[in-house]
Formats: sequence, structure tokens, C-alpha cells
Amino acid sequence: MNNLSLSKLTDCITLSNGVKMPCIGYGTWQTPSGEVAENCVKSALELGYRHVDTAWVYGNEPDVGRGIKKSGIKREEIFLTSKHWVTERGYDKTIKAVETSLENLGVDYLDLYLIHWPCVEKLTPEWKEINASTWRGFEKMYKDGKIRAIGVSNFQQKHLDALNEYAQIKPMVNQIEFHPGYTQIDNVRYSQSLGMTVQAWSPLGSGAVLNDPTLMKMAEKYGKSVAQLCVRFALQCGVIPLPKSLNQSRMAANADVFDFTITDEDVQKLVAFPELGFSTYLPEDAPADALC
Ligand code: A2P
Repeated sequence: MNNLSLSKLTDCITLSNGVKMPCIGYGTWQTPSGEVAENCVKSALELGYRHVDTAWVYGNEPDVGRGIKKSGIKREEIFLTSKHWVTERGYDKTIKAVETSLENLGVDYLDLYLIHWPCVEKLTPEWKEINASTWRGFEKMYKDGKIRAIGVSNFQQKHLDALNEYAQIKPMVNQIEFHPGYTQIDNVRYSQSLGMTVQAWSPLGSGAVLNDPTLMKMAEKYGKSVAQLCVRFALQCGVIPLPKSLNQSRMAANADVFDFTITDEDVQKLVAFPELGFSTYLPEDAPADALC
């Protein structure tokens, strides 16, 4: 899967359950809540984005919802994702968490809802059962039509395998950190081999990769910026990037990636790029208070 047939921002890939997802999403992690988030989402939609990614823990769901309404674009034309936070694990809390996100966003359904971080073994020996119980809440809300697709975020092979032992409905998406300098390529390939679509959070390495001289030289060869190289790189790996910017011209630039193709050789160089811009931690290494 290399997504080379995609030719514009609103072109879609198809998830394993048949739901269509626009190939580049507008990310809102670390976007300040209030008017900034509201105006950014409105601008992104006006610029042609039709896929917006938020999470309860970002604290900006109400602003994202207002930005969508203010854009005047119909709800059904927008692919909207939110995520379940680690404090809400378990069946009953999960049902309430979905209802809270729907209310915050002012919508009747989500296009995609993700377990933000897995419960892990170092937190509790019952980590598998806890993730499974959360997942049952996801399956219920999916069957009830409140969520069109369900998935996970920051899951590694161990967590995916454990969840799939219990899941009646298999997760459709795994959203992980992915950018030159931190591709987690084995996880990407494993998730894809399970039929999941991989999404990239921090596809620009949260900005930390943008001034790297080697990446600058490669981008220059294509007449593009490093940010555009990163977005295109994700697409050519079959990964859906969620770049974020608070600036309208950069939002537009990040979507202007359909007029060049990175050679296979350069894709391989980017896959194997030395570690750069790793932004947080993997779930098993996270501080205990970050994941519970
Ligand atoms: P800004 O909001 O000022 O544009 P990521 O998507 O990997 O999380 O990276 C987001 C960071 O990258 C933000 O700091 C954002 O800053 C910056 N950024 C986003 N797009 C571009 C771009 N086209 N050129 C330079 N910096 C960018």
C-alpha cells in the first residue's frame, strides 16, 4: 500500500469496515483551547481539509465542535475523530466517555474513536482484561451507531494481539507517532498486516525534524519543504498523516503534497533515518501516572 493513486486532500482510503477516511487529517494536539482551536479548525476546513483529529484530553473538543459549526460545512462531509482517555477505562466509564465527547463536540456521532493509550502490564496484571472491557464499550457504541469506526492509538504488537483475543469487532485503526526519525516501521507493518489503517501523530516530529540538514537537502531536491516531504512520506508508506499548524499558509502547504513522488530509494532512507524528534514514550516505558 503506497497511496500513490491519491491526488487530493479529500481523496479517501477505505477502512476495513468500508468507512471512507480522507487521506490527510488536521491534527489538534497541543492546539490551545478556546478561540485559537475554534478558528484553526474553521480555517482548516475552509482550506479543504475534511478530516479533523482531536481527543478528550486535548481539552479542545468544544472548540473543535464550534469550529466545525462555524465553517458551515455539513457534518456528514467531515470525518471526525476523538479519543478515549486513560482515566475512563472499563465498560461503563467508556460508554459515558463517548457520550461526553459527543456532547463536547456537539455532534450525534463520531467517525472514529480510539483508545488513546493501552493499559499495560506494569500498571496491573489485569491489563488485558481492562483493555478488553474498554473495548466492549467501544463495540457497544459502534453497534449503536454512535461511532462509525473504532480503533486504538499507541498500541504495539503485544497490545494488539491481546486485544484481538477478546475483540468481536477488530480495531480498524492504530494511530502512532510516525515521522522520519521515528517511524516504528515494524509496528506500522504489523498493524497493516492485521488489516488496520495506520495514522501518524506528529508526522512532522512536532516540528523537531524540520531543520535537519539531510532532510532539508532531500526536500529541496523535490522543490518542497521538509514538512511537505514528511506528509508525502507518510502517504507513500500507506500511513494517514495528521499534521497540525496554527498558521493558515502552513496548513495549506501541508496539504500541497500531490504533485511529487518520493523515490523508493529516498522512502527507504526516510524509513531508516537515525532517531530524531521522538516526542514522548512508548506505552511500556511511560511513567505510571501518565497512563492511569
Ligand atoms: P505552527 O503551528 O506554528 O505552524 P506535528 O504536526 O508533527 O505535531 O508538528 C506541528 C509543529 O510543526 C508545530 O509546531 C507547527 O507550528 C509546525 N509546522 C506545521 N506545519 C509546518 C510547516 N509547513 N512548516 C514549518 N513548520 C510547521
